[in-house]
Parts: sequence; C-alpha cells; structure tokens
Amino acid sequence: MSDVPSIVILTGAGISAESGIPTFRAENGVSYWDGDIIDFVPKKHRVEDVCTPEALAGDPELVHRFYDLRRAALAGVVPNAAHEALARLDRAWEAELLIVTQNVDDLHERAGAVRMLHMHGELNSAVCAACGARAEWRGALPPGTRCAACGAGALRPDIVFFGEMPYQMARIEAALAAADLFVSIGTSGAVYPAAGFVQTARAYGAATLELNLEPSAGSAWFDETRLGAAGVLVPAWVDEVLARR
Ligand code: NAD
Ligand code: APR
Repeated sequence: MSDVPSIVILTGAGISAESGIPTFRAENGVSYWDGDIIDFVPKKHRVEDVCTPEALAGDPELVHRFYDLRRAALAGVVPNAAHEALARLDRAWEAELLIVTQNVDDLHERAGAVRMLHMHGELNSAVCAACGARAEWRGALPPGTRCAACGAGALRPDIVFFGEMPYQMARIEAALAAADLFVSIGTSGAVYPAAGFVQTARAYGAATLELNLEPSAGSAWFDETRLGAAGVLVPAWVDEVLARR
C-alpha cells in the first residue's frame, strides 16, 4: 500500500460558476429557465419540469431546446482556476484519484483532467432511447434524430433526468470505499445519491473536506468546511496537498 492517500473529489455547479455557467439553485440560477420565448412571450419553466422523462415524452421540443441552448452556451465559456488546479492535481498525484462531477459541461476535461467521470451525463453527448448507444454530439439535436447504431431509436440528450439512475454508481462506490480523503466542491448537497457520498466515504474511514461558497445541506458531515470561491479555495488546497505529500 502506498503512503500517498487515495482521493475522491465530487464537484457540482459551483465549480463552473466563475466560468459564467449559472448554478442550479442560486437566485439567478437555471432553477427557473426563463430563456424560452414562445410566440414572442417569455415563458418560465422550473428545471424540475424540464429535466424529467415525463417532460421528454410530453414535450420533446421543449426539452431538446433547453439542452440545445445549454450545449451552445459551452462555446462561450472556458475552464477557471479551480478546473485547472484539479487537472494539475490529477497529473501530479501518483496514488488513486477520481473526480466525480455532477456537471454536464466539459470544463474539467478541457482543463486537462483525465481521471474523471460524469455521473449526470454530458451536454456533448447523445444517447439512443432504444438501444442505449452513445454518440458525441455538437450543435442542435432535433427531436426524432435517428440513432446511427440501430437505425430505429431516437437520440435524446445524454443527461440523467430527475428520477433516473446516475451513471457509474458501482465504480463511484468502490472509489468511495477505498478513499482516504473525500473532497466536495461547489455542490449544494440537495440531490441524492451525490449528496450522500460524504456519509459513504466517512463510513469507510475517509477524512472529509468541503470547499463551497456557503455551507451545503450536508455541511455537518464534513470534518472541515472552507467557505469561499472555488477559483480561490481549490488552487490553494491543491498546493497544500501537493506540498504535504
Ligand atoms: P432521486 O433522489 O429521486 O433518485 C435518484 C436516483 O438514483 C433514483 O433513480 C435511485 O434509484 C438512484 N439511486 C439512489 N441511490 C443510489 C445508489 N446508491 N446507487 C445507485 N443508484 C442510486 O433523484 P432526483 O433528485 O430526482 O435526481 C435524479 C438524478 O437526475 C440526479 O442525479 C440529478 O442530479 C439528475 N438530474 C440532472 C440534471 C441535469 O441537468 N444534469 C437535471 C435534473 C436532474
Ligand atoms: N465557488 C464555490 N462554490 C460556489 C461558487 C463558487 N464560485 N458559486 C456557487 N457555489 C456553490 C453554491 O453556494 C451552492 O452551494 O455551489 C453550490 C451549487 O449548488 P447547486 O446550484 O444546487 O448545484 P449542484 O449541487 O451541482 O446541483 C446538483 O442537481 O439539478 C441537479 O443534476 C443537477 O447536477 C445537478 C444537481
């Protein structure tokens, strides 16, 4: 066994906030989507009413338009100091490390992180509703786009909707069980199962650290909470762990 600790890092919307992507639950966040104009009248939608299997079945135009706009918005943003610092840690860390992001943007990988996964899916990916095949996707995804793999099913945004099973849970749970340190960055702790990862990691003996703008719903579960902007806190923490190694 190596002396260098094994690390699992959970990230949420807060780590991309300083890149200009609104968080879900902030006051100006995307929890109310008001960018939709129908018959010249602005219309507000609760995110919970757009990101569901029921919405996709009932109003595919609306759901696809929502994700087309979010996919298009990625072109105008770049990774910030927090994404860059985690990519630097990923490159330098010789022991196990896994970045689990709830974000559907691609800023971790654009910063150069490799040991990472998207538990809630990705904007730049489409998935076949019939056969489950995935295709990298850029630009608009009109409802009814046929899957090239099976030729029969329709492609949908490759996003885990409310009520659906997040991706790669077995791999995440194995990493949490083996972790010496669990770090949560920029997430409100409002959505399970991600909100429960801190308790799983603790139960298996990991030390736990939270880096967030404000205390999250699960703050009491962390050994230490540091409050502030991810763009400041994350590079400082990365410097600290690399120096302590
Ligand atoms: P929920 O708490 O009702 O359900 C969570 C889902 O995860 C359930 O299907 C449950 O069976 C499963 N689950 C729970 N614990 C599990 C475990 N330990 N192992 C494997 N599976 C487990 O979920 P919710 O709050 O309605 O959200 C569902 C998911 O959809 C969340 O991950 C949420 O973040 C995601 N979502 C993503 C977006 C987006 O835009 N990226 C938007 C909305 C919801
Ligand atoms: N630095 C650090 N933290 C920040 C910053 C910042 N610059 N800006 C905001 N935050 C914090 C907020 O204080 C908040 O606690 O980030 C958190 C963002 O929380 P949410 O908007 O709830 O986002 P997240 O936790 O990622 O949401 C989880 O819910 O809607 C679903 O699937 C969606 O993945 C998403 C999940």
